[in-house]
Amino acid sequence: MAERPYIVGNWKMNGTRAMLSEARAIDRASQRHMKVEVALAPPFTLIHAVHREVEQIGVGAQDCHALTEGAHTGDISAAMALDAGAKFVILGHSERRTNHGESDALIRDKVAAAREAGLQVILCCGESEAQRDAGEAEAHVLGQLKAALPESDNASEWLTVAYEPIWAIGTGRVPTTDDIAAMHGAIRGLLTDMYGDAAAETRILYGGSVKAENAAAILALADVDGALVGGASLTAEAFLGIVYAAA
Ligand code: G3H
Repeated sequence: MAERPYIVGNWKMNGTRAMLSEARAIDRASQRHMKVEVALAPPFTLIHAVHREVEQIGVGAQDCHALTEGAHTGDISAAMALDAGAKFVILGHSERRTNHGESDALIRDKVAAAREAGLQVILCCGESEAQRDAGEAEAHVLGQLKAALPESDNASEWLTVAYEPIWAIGTGRVPTTDDIAAMHGAIRGLLTDMYGDAAAETRILYGGSVKAENAAAILALADVDGALVGGASLTAEAFLGIVYAAA
């Protein structure tokens, strides 16, 4: 486990102002667990409100547009997310890739836009079940990362990678600890090839059906520096169970 594990809740398309009380409770408890870095990515509509409610935890966005402004109805730029109170943005989530047809090239442009605006990036990658069954998981995941990341950069200062096998998201199914460790090791190897020794500082999160019950075993693995949590981040009780397991 990392010295200071990073536990990020992704609320996805969930939450109205009624959920601000959950954010407050998460924030208050996190102040007593400073050994864990905690963050939430609420929907765009709640970024500003969550940012105003919390003192300790980080707040981020779940996506941003690749351009800075213009005629893009319904879209949000990186600078707008930053202005609302986000300090990071999740990019390349499999739900964006699948539901919105996001390509590696588009995600690369979004990474660049986020960096230009001054946002940190949580870059998601992960294989489908068919790719895993075909023995293609590692090649696919490393390919996604190579395609989206700049070749030369001080990435450890702004980049977090989240490995999320698609078949584990929201299903209650989790890879074996050996499989998680192998993939995280391969990702670390790629980052080291790209960025040198500084890649040791880049955090690599696991995501996919993380719960209080399985968090400790996953977070204990080498090269697992934290978790990206979906369903179990929607209540303070469930999310804090994971934070406590990381502490
Ligand atoms: O961004 C979070 C992930 O997609 C994991 O979601 O914890 O509901 O499986 P989950």
